[in-house]
Amino acid sequence: MIIWSIETSCDETALAIVEASGGLRAPKFKVLRSVVSSQIEIHRPFGGVVPNLAKREHLKNLPILFEELEKDGFDIKKAGLLAITVGPGLEPALWTGVNFAKELAKKYKKPLIGVNHLEGHIYSFLLSKNAPLLKMKDVFPAIALLVSGGHTMILKMESIKKWRRMGETRDDAVGEAYDKVARLLDLPYPGGPEIERMSAIGKGDAIRFPRPMLDQKNYDFSFSGLKTAVLYRLRDYPAKKEKDKADVAASFQEAAVEVLVKKTMRAAEATKAKSIILSGGVAANQRLREALKEEAKKRKMKFLAPEMRFNTDNAAMVAAAAYVAKLRGKKRRITAQANLSI
Ligand code: KG4
Ligand code: ZN
Repeated sequence: MIIWSIETSCDETALAIVEASGGLRAPKFKVLRSVVSSQIEIHRPFGGVVPNLAKREHLKNLPILFEELEKDGFDIKKAGLLAITVGPGLEPALWTGVNFAKELAKKYKKPLIGVNHLEGHIYSFLLSKNAPLLKMKDVFPAIALLVSGGHTMILKMESIKKWRRMGETRDDAVGEAYDKVARLLDLPYPGGPEIERMSAIGKGDAIRFPRPMLDQKNYDFSFSGLKTAVLYRLRDYPAKKEKDKADVAASFQEAAVEVLVKKTMRAAEATKAKSIILSGGVAANQRLREALKEEAKKRKMKFLAPEMRFNTDNAAMVAAAAYVAKLRGKKRRITAQANLSI
């Protein structure tokens, strides 16, 4: 089945064409095309995403990306299914995609399915080139760690279609903490890649920042206290030199990664997971990837994460989630649902 998918929940306008096959037992995806138009430069002066600017840019970019695909020779008439992210996300941004998708579905008389953005992230590991070699019986039960700008959660996945949330952040998402700490260090938005770059030249053990909720016997997180600890540190010891900034960045990253990794591995042990599935924008972080990979290896568990271009928001992941939802017969209302949960 050929799926055309659209994603506009935040600050990336994205379209993709994905060939899906294999059914729920052995889902396989071939990404024929994935285009992303990033608005980072537009939002950067504001230090974060401005919803109405995002809406304006999506409205401008959607037809441009669509034409680009057509010019490349792809024909929407061959699509078996259209898919659109309906939430969670910024409401004005979500609406632009929803309306665009509805118009396409009407014009070309195609079925349209609504997708949960978070399910898209979770399934993004299936888009990797070597994912078709995976046997689902070797993957599940799995522990999925979803880390993005808006969410931080641990899920237990019994199978591709059955999961339960084990824990989540009680305040800031970890990506949000990266972005806020970057701002404290006068680094540009988005902060994740900037903190990672600075960390490479800093010492992770230079400052002992708190590891929030690490000792609690649950799978929840809290990152706002960690951010505040960085704020107080900088108030007491302003980071004037590049080296001081790098030490703060690296020490913050060590604290965040340690909590994420330890809690994820505890969940994996408690549920006898066969694999660890990492996803979301923060999954692009090499330190986090390496640490989880190593811990998984020690316990003979698989470590599954998307290839780099599918960590941050994209539409190929929306197509993957659409395929699973379609096979499950799961229908969502085709309207913007800013607070949609998983
Ligand atoms: O999944 P995503 O693209 O959008 C949401 O659904 O939120 O995630 C964006 C988040 C931002 O907070 C960004 O700073 C973070 O992912 N991020 C990173 C890295 N690349 C992106 N965080 C840490 N290290 C990175 N390399
Ligand atoms: Zn996302």
